[in-house]
Amino acid sequence: MTKISVIGSGTMGHGIAQVAAMAGYDVAITDTTAAALDRAQSNVAGNLAGAVERGKATQEVADAALARITFTGDRNAAVENAQLVIEAIIEDIDVKRSLFAELDSQADPSAILASNTSSLSIGQIAEVTERPDKVVGMHFFNPVHIMKLVEIVSHADTSPETLATVREVAEHMGKTAISVKDTPGFATSRLGVVLGLEAMRMVEQGVASPEDIDKAMELGYGHPMGPLRVSDLVGLDIRLAIAEHLFSEFHSTQYQPPQILKDKVSSGELGKKTGKGFYVWPKQ
Ligand code: NAI
Repeated sequence: MTKISVIGSGTMGHGIAQVAAMAGYDVAITDTTAAALDRAQSNVAGNLAGAVERGKATQEVADAALARITFTGDRNAAVENAQLVIEAIIEDIDVKRSLFAELDSQADPSAILASNTSSLSIGQIAEVTERPDKVVGMHFFNPVHIMKLVEIVSHADTSPETLATVREVAEHMGKTAISVKDTPGFATSRLGVVLGLEAMRMVEQGVASPEDIDKAMELGYGHPMGPLRVSDLVGLDIRLAIAEHLFSEFHSTQYQPPQILKDKVSSGELGKKTGKGFYVWPKQ
């Protein structure tokens, strides 16, 4: 494995590109908007500068990592010669399926195509390709350069070779991999979203402020971060998309998106990325 291609340069894509480059892979990242690519480039540079400041990396290592990443609007160029393509675009099954159909003809036939989806079916994504054995879920966490977990999601036809390769890559990036069957929300979103949605319902009902609900989980239950702050970091639009998907799959009211979440998303309060969600955030 020498080259990894990342499709989508938002919250997750830029982080995946960064950890891949830090692990020594050549990386090409692409997006449909130039603004997203510019933002990704400055976010990666900022993260790497932070790593140098905190003594986590030398200036030379950080410079070399940044130099290994190509930011390009040309998807063909981005996937050329990549042995692994990691998709991190919006959480929408139809959009992902049409992207994978295109990637299937653009990427080298031997390349593995991975999705960073938080909840959608890897099997449904794989079935639009001629290489379902090489389609797999690689679910990273936000912020990617800090969070240690990668969920590796196998659908019925993912080959053992594909699973072994992506596990090796994840571990080479310094992550701990867990194996999960292709079920809605996998191991993480299926549990985490319940907590996040219930916390939102509690805000709606005036039970306590977002700060106090988060403190309850942080100080009372030892969670490193409360569910509302996590939701703001994930992005409320992403949380809503996941909740709608899980509700449609499980028909369980615990996944029914609360009105406050729908209202925030429709008014553009998406959390950290837009500067406001359940909290006010510094502009990125
Ligand atoms: P985001 O909204 O921050 O970024 C998505 C990016 O994809 C945007 O820059 C958009 O311009 C780009 N894009 C959309 N369609 C595209 C296409 N056809 N080709 C290339 N680029 C395209 O979204 P985020 O948060 O990075 O999420 C991406 C994926 O990662 C989703 O599937 C989400 O569920 C998953 N995920 C998100 C996490 C989070 O905390 N935000 C955590 C783990 C997974």
